[in-house]
Amino acid sequence: MKNIVILISGRGSNMEAIVQACIAQNWSARIAAVISNKASAAGLEFAARHGIATAMVDHKQFDSREAFDTELAKVIDGYQPDLVVLAGFMRILSEGFVRHYEGRLLNIHPSLLPAFPGLHTHERAIEAGCKLAGATVHLVTPELDHGPIVIQAAVPVLPEDTGDTLSARVLKQEHQIYPRAVRWFVDGELTVAEGRVSHRSAQAQVVWAAD
Ligand code: GAR
Repeated sequence: MKNIVILISGRGSNMEAIVQACIAQNWSARIAAVISNKASAAGLEFAARHGIATAMVDHKQFDSREAFDTELAKVIDGYQPDLVVLAGFMRILSEGFVRHYEGRLLNIHPSLLPAFPGLHTHERAIEAGCKLAGATVHLVTPELDHGPIVIQAAVPVLPEDTGDTLSARVLKQEHQIYPRAVRWFVDGELTVAEGRVSHRSAQAQVVWAAD
């Protein structure tokens, strides 16, 4: 049984999708804890309601990024994670933290990386006149929103789209691809070589969604 620790900062809808899939598909893994850097994170309530341990490490209580990351890692490691999942965890992580979890740290980002790392991805995609947008699940490296890509979902950008409508279309796909990627990790179905992640079904690593 593998231990998964999920980090959130807010709504936690990706965390919910992973928890639901773990239960419904009877994964050989448990969500050992959901940890937030914000007490107000709505996702903490969902986790608690599902009998999952929750913790909060408030980044504002620390003088430096490194001090916060050290405490965060201490709390995470208390749950002996095989995998740490960043699900809308809106903090830049220090190199030391990322190295500590190397190969077992996943992130989801709402763009087709390497396009649009950082914030406001949907507005930037619209502004750039992109015809496709999407989401990426990747292994985390010290560079922000960067690292070997596990799975991507692409959706159209429609002429009438606003940041909100595009974000909703992408989020729907995030809820499909993130549980899938986590399950692959749990089942040991991913291999990483030369900075690339493969699954035996390469097709499953690509999702096209018209709606
Ligand atoms: C998601 O869209 C996720 O891709 C994004 O934050 C949102 C969190 O929503 N993450 C990033 O931008 C990370 N760079 P959620 O709390 O409902 O899962």
